[in-house]
Amino acid sequence: MKKLKRKELESYLQQVDGFENPKLVLEQYPTRPHIAACMLYTIHTTYDDIEDKLIADLGCGCGVLSIGAAMLGAGLCVGFDLDEDALEIFKANVEEFELTNVDMIQCNVCSLPSDKMLKRFDTVIMNPPFGTKYNKGLDMTFLKTALQIAREAVYSLHKTSTREHIQKKAEEWKIKMEVIAELRYDLPASFKFHKKKSVDIEVDFIRFSPG
Ligand SMILES: C[S@@+](CC[C@H](N)C(=O)[O-])C[C@H]1O[C@@H](n2cnc3c(N)ncnc32)[C@H](O)[C@@H]1O
Repeated sequence: MKKLKRKELESYLQQVDGFENPKLVLEQYPTRPHIAACMLYTIHTTYDDIEDKLIADLGCGCGVLSIGAAMLGAGLCVGFDLDEDALEIFKANVEEFELTNVDMIQCNVCSLPSDKMLKRFDTVIMNPPFGTKYNKGLDMTFLKTALQIAREAVYSLHKTSTREHIQKKAEEWKIKMEVIAELRYDLPASFKFHKKKSVDIEVDFIRFSPG
């Protein structure tokens, strides 16, 4: 597989179609190509947690993270999402890029894992719902599930304002966590629970090492 530069990856990810009608209750805001490329490139080059790995993408949406991981040489990347409409777009994106190392499963991440999935993935990547007033605590449910199914590492985005809470949980669960970067993340205008038209929030890009 050809080695991709970060800028090349970002420009491919700009061609990935996103949500047509984002669903507020499912917190369907996409990871922007720039952020997705930064995350994936770091996971690949600094931690070597993509190439030839079995990867899960929890709350995969239209698949920008899965598709990027596949382009960087993942053995197989499996996306999980509740929403059939998002997975339809994901499927079309995968076909458009002619990728053969991507799969997807429609399911509720809160009902995972089954015994068969425990420690079955090398790496988990995700941009989980942040857990707004509709979904309080959903980010932590995603994280708990990710830590159960991953053998090596979990990479996730979380609001910086929740860092202390996450650190406490990580201590409680005896999990090592490293904040790799603080990023600015713009929530699209369609998310009306924010007062302004579009809102920039600070998010932490975090690596967790499951026990
Ligand atoms: C913030 S979006 C991220 C989408 C995509 N991963 C990306 O990076 O662009 C969160 C995703 O989680 C999905 N989701 C929300 N609740 C879910 C649940 N309980 N089980 C599975 N997926 C869920 C949404 O449909 C949405 O696609």
